[in-house]
Amino acid sequence: MSKVSVIGAGNVGATAVYYIAEKNIADIVMVDVVEGLPQSKALDFLHAAPLRQYNVSIRGTNDYSQIEGSDVVVHTAGIPRKPGMDRMDLLKTNVQIAKEAAQAIEKYAPDAIVIVVANPLDVIAMTVLRETGFALKRVVGMAGILDSTRFRYFIAEKLNVLPSDVFAMVLGGHGDSMVPLPRYTSVGGFPLTELLTPDEIEQLVNRTRKGGGEIVSYLKKGSAFYAPGASVAKMVEAVVKDEKRIAAASAYLRGEYGHEGIFLGVPVLLGKHGVERIIEVELSDEEKAALDDSATHVHEGVETLESIYSPG
Ligand code: NAI
Ligand code: 2OP
Repeated sequence: MSKVSVIGAGNVGATAVYYIAEKNIADIVMVDVVEGLPQSKALDFLHAAPLRQYNVSIRGTNDYSQIEGSDVVVHTAGIPRKPGMDRMDLLKTNVQIAKEAAQAIEKYAPDAIVIVVANPLDVIAMTVLRETGFALKRVVGMAGILDSTRFRYFIAEKLNVLPSDVFAMVLGGHGDSMVPLPRYTSVGGFPLTELLTPDEIEQLVNRTRKGGGEIVSYLKKGSAFYAPGASVAKMVEAVVKDEKRIAAASAYLRGEYGHEGIFLGVPVLLGKHGVERIIEVELSDEEKAALDDSATHVHEGVETLESIYSPG
């Protein structure tokens, strides 16, 4: 059985564990700073095993050394946003937490693939890459699958079709400037652009861009976690089972799509080595301009990150 460690046993971490266990994907360790929290959730999940018919080990701990030997580590530890907050507002706190987690990952799980979730996603992924010193393909951010599944759902709702029959790609940074790609979206094999008008598509694109914010405005105390947890589980499964799954994810770019030295949401091939390939597809001038604009926001986040690393 493979071993997956989830750092942060809060809403997203615990929901990801739930989905990973339900599919018997791997043995799981949950780590959190709050004493008793990961232990209680792990035990609670185990109590449900006979009913839900999973047979994986789930352990909760406050001790990072328990992640030893993990094949995959998921980093969800960090504060979520509240109404009125941008994902960038979380930066300072979440960078410190990410540094601590990354150092533990490097020490105890040096062969792991790391899936970063904490926000601001593309900047925290950069922090984890730096602090672990891992090969570029072994650090990947979760956002594209989430943004794409929201787009897929909104399309399915509009057309009244099976949500899993909709395939979509959302690229760019994980922020309101993300780039849904209607041209690369299909429903049962048919191009979306044949099924809805440009205005209808634009409405769904806008709702997707603000999908995370819509949840925050309802929830008030935090942000989404069911769809994020499911998105994490999908990525974990792709790595653990070496599925060679094509999905959007935040990957470190070295010139792909004209960008260098940042994490940005692009189509990747996910397998046991992490980001095994970045898939480059042709973008229209408009799509490329939107991706460049999104990348600008990530660059700004990275500049703020630099000021945290070397204040003054
Ligand atoms: P949460 O507050 O429910 O859980 C965070 C957990 O991290 C808490 O249990 C906290 O005790 C723990 N934690 C804090 N410092 C820690 C440390 N040093 N070591 C271990 N654990 C530590 O928050 P939630 O909703 O689970 O969100 C977590 C993060 O994921 C947030 O930054 C949020 O913005 C982000 N997020 C990202 C998404 C994406 O698409 N990339 C989607 C949803 C959330
Ligand atoms: C989301 O998109 C908060 O990033 C998180 O729901």
